[in-house]
Amino acid sequence: MLIRRCAVLFVEPRENLDLDWSSLFAGEGALGATVRWVALAPHLGVEIEIGNDEMLALGGISLTLWRERAACEQQSSVDVIARLLALGLLVSDAPEGAALRERDEVLRAQHWRPLSAAAHMFSRWGDMRVDKGMQFPSFEELVESYGTPPAPAIERADAGTALLLPSAERAGLDETLFQRYTGRNFDPAAILPLATASRLLQRAFGSQGEREMAPDAFVLKKLSPSAGGLHPTEAYVLAQRVEGVAPGLYHYHPVRHALEPLVAMDTAQTAELAMRMVADQDWFVDAPMMVVLVARVERNFWKYRNHAKAYRALLLDAGHLSQTFYLLATEAGMPAFVTAAVNEVDIERAFGLDPLKDMVVAVCGCGAASGAQDTVEMRYEP
Ligand SMILES: Cc1cc2nc3c(=O)[nH]c(=O)nc-3n(C[C@H](O)[C@H](O)[C@H](O)COP(=O)(O)O)c2cc1C
Repeated sequence: MLIRRCAVLFVEPRENLDLDWSSLFAGEGALGATVRWVALAPHLGVEIEIGNDEMLALGGISLTLWRERAACEQQSSVDVIARLLALGLLVSDAPEGAALRERDEVLRAQHWRPLSAAAHMFSRWGDMRVDKGMQFPSFEELVESYGTPPAPAIERADAGTALLLPSAERAGLDETLFQRYTGRNFDPAAILPLATASRLLQRAFGSQGEREMAPDAFVLKKLSPSAGGLHPTEAYVLAQRVEGVAPGLYHYHPVRHALEPLVAMDTAQTAELAMRMVADQDWFVDAPMMVVLVARVERNFWKYRNHAKAYRALLLDAGHLSQTFYLLATEAGMPAFVTAAVNEVDIERAFGLDPLKDMVVAVCGCGAASGAQDTVEMRYEP
């Protein structure tokens, strides 16, 4: 049997601080620190505690070259190699290791930058809720705990030397820009008109033209910028109350301007999923349409292979799209929202996405306002 190390692996010496009663009674420092090795392998997506022997063995096995298992066992031990294979930190060419090897191969095929893969895979939430561990304190609570925040604006030169600029003239974009706000009080009965949903999807996520940059290398022209012109962000739709669209999950096709049905649901199921997607932020749940921004990493990493900036570019791309989405919703007389506090794991499961290939970045939504002010909103006040 041939084996090698998984493609990407970071090992963190993590520390637990405990009250050490024996030290306390001996009159020494009362805090004890226990250090343990935590293996972070993105193709597995779960943290794994390993021992010193396993750490050492991993350091001696190539991630590229396949070696005979027996030779690795001689170098460390039969037990250590067996455990590392069972955990998936080592992969083998044996049939029983196929599932874990395939996950490693999926990761290799995407051309992730190792640190970015780890940052992505280990910052996902599953089943997180506002009242569980999400920590959504009010500003008052924050000030009580941390004191006042750093000032909202800073000075980097004497005020006397600063060049005062003329005030901006009113212009075309102003009306939309000033009306935009994050909605947190959506009308639970309002239906999103099909024409509005359709314009929003087409202008925010749709293609306005296609160009062949080289033989069989196509890029789309969209109305937001995208790193390398690659537009890797896909729009996945949760339709709760969209006119003419059955409740359920869809993928928006940017060239055909069509909703591809993925999962049909009843309205109780869409409401339950909406709540789960945004980690129980119930102020968003009544939005009749939500759009999950999902970066198809291989599209960006095709050009930016193992690239230090590629992950950052994917996050920035999604930010641009969400702003365009906000402005289109505003133009249609509706508030919108974007949130990064989402349960990626639940979203992946619902839409059938592989997190090594399809990176859930954020959830947007929009809909008519209810008129109530149950949850705080920040509208522009002239
Ligand atoms: C990246 C990002 C993440 C956000 N996440 C949340 C969130 O989890 N919950 C929420 O209620 N608002 C969220 N918001 C909205 C902000 O709270 C909002 O933009 C900010 O308070 C300013 O208000 P405005 O958009 O009405 O001007 C997020 C905004 C951005 C850009």
